[in-house]
Amino acid sequence: MSATSACRVCGGRVSQFADFGRQPLSDAFVLPGEIGQEFFYDLAAGLCESCTMVQLMAEVPRERMFHHDYPYLSAGSAVMRAHFMKLAKCLLVTELTGPDPFVVEIGCNDGTMLRVIADAGVRHLGVEPSGGVAERAREQGVRVRTDFFEAATAADILATDGPADVIYAANTLCHIPYIDSILTGVRTLLAPEGVFVFEDPYLADILERTSFDQIYDEHFFFFTATSVRAMARGAGLELVDVERLPVHGGEVRYTLARQGTRTPTPAVAELIAAEAVARVADLAVLRAFGARVAAIAEDLTSLLTRLRAEGRRVAGYGATAKSATVLNYCGIGPDLVPFVCDSTPAKQGRLTPGAHLPVVPPDAFSDPYPDYALLFAWNHAEEIMDKERAFREKGGKWILYVPEVRVV
Ligand code: SAH
Ligand code: TMP
Ligand code: ZN
Repeated sequence: MSATSACRVCGGRVSQFADFGRQPLSDAFVLPGEIGQEFFYDLAAGLCESCTMVQLMAEVPRERMFHHDYPYLSAGSAVMRAHFMKLAKCLLVTELTGPDPFVVEIGCNDGTMLRVIADAGVRHLGVEPSGGVAERAREQGVRVRTDFFEAATAADILATDGPADVIYAANTLCHIPYIDSILTGVRTLLAPEGVFVFEDPYLADILERTSFDQIYDEHFFFFTATSVRAMARGAGLELVDVERLPVHGGEVRYTLARQGTRTPTPAVAELIAAEAVARVADLAVLRAFGARVAAIAEDLTSLLTRLRAEGRRVAGYGATAKSATVLNYCGIGPDLVPFVCDSTPAKQGRLTPGAHLPVVPPDAFSDPYPDYALLFAWNHAEEIMDKERAFREKGGKWILYVPEVRVV
């Protein structure tokens, strides 16, 4: 565990604290004929001892992850649709009140957030490299540029559309190792009084819940207010607000502005103080997290092995990107979990990456119900358990592995 790498934010030394070995790309769902041709990479996470940014030790080339067939859809969860609707409406009344405002979303995916802005008649642009999901956004009336956002893209947008009052990114900034180019682009494109708002999984929540499955190829950075403030300062920006969000297992929404344009809210200093108490940038705390992960993996495989021996039927629920880390790290295959249900059309009829669990539509779940359902989409637990109430009423049990393995 003495491996090191160079920090993608400050160039400092990154010390490894958790190693998941060789992993397939988390969203590369394969056809049965493609087995044997999958791309694998080394998944490990580390801490920058200079700027405190937690990050992966190595990156996967972006074109391998984000391309025409990228399967994830933001609209797959009703809770997330409501979340983005609320955020869009909030931006409309707080930040977009001047004459002819302009919003840019980095990673707009299927347009779930931007369609609300578009419907309000506000000038906008989504920047989305994954062609298939970008096409879905266009079908919703959203203006999209099929491209990676980076410094050059930002300069180009500024030349055609002028400065942006709001630049927004959800679950996307943490996907981008070339963060210096993004921040340069933001500085170029942002209006003098504009804001850059982004929300991503929060390291403190990941540590508290031992949600190790948040660690996979696409999640390159694990932000905290402490690390984001340092990163912003390095780029001539300032962290002016933070807000904790309950979605996706715990996130923080960060608001950045040009230095000196806004007074940071008390929430910034409060969250940074709480992070010092929780010691989120302490290698010993992070290594202890790594040790808890190994124990969870052990518990989960022994539970599934015992259930199989007892002749119980176990199904997976939610072919999440996160599940790739769980399945491949624990060595769980179709012998233990014969299939996984998922509502995403582009995942159905395929096999999960590496572990090769067949992905089937949600209807298959009740046909007939399994004895146990392993909830990979635990971040949507409330929504899914509510939708699948009949499963529990008929005696079915859910298996969760975050924050520890338990049957409910
Ligand atoms: N914002 C949506 C989608 C998150 S998935 C949501 O929160 O549900 C991450 C998205 O970021 C993918 O659609 C991916 O194609 C896109 N992405 C990855 N790199 C990007 C980049 N450099 N610029 C813009 N989008 C990017
Ligand atoms: P996510 O955790 O990355 O948002 O992925 C959730 C996955 O679970 C996604 O593939 C869609 C799927 N899903 C269902 O199949 N049914 C549901 O009710 C919900 C909310 C998600
Ligand atoms: Zn650093």
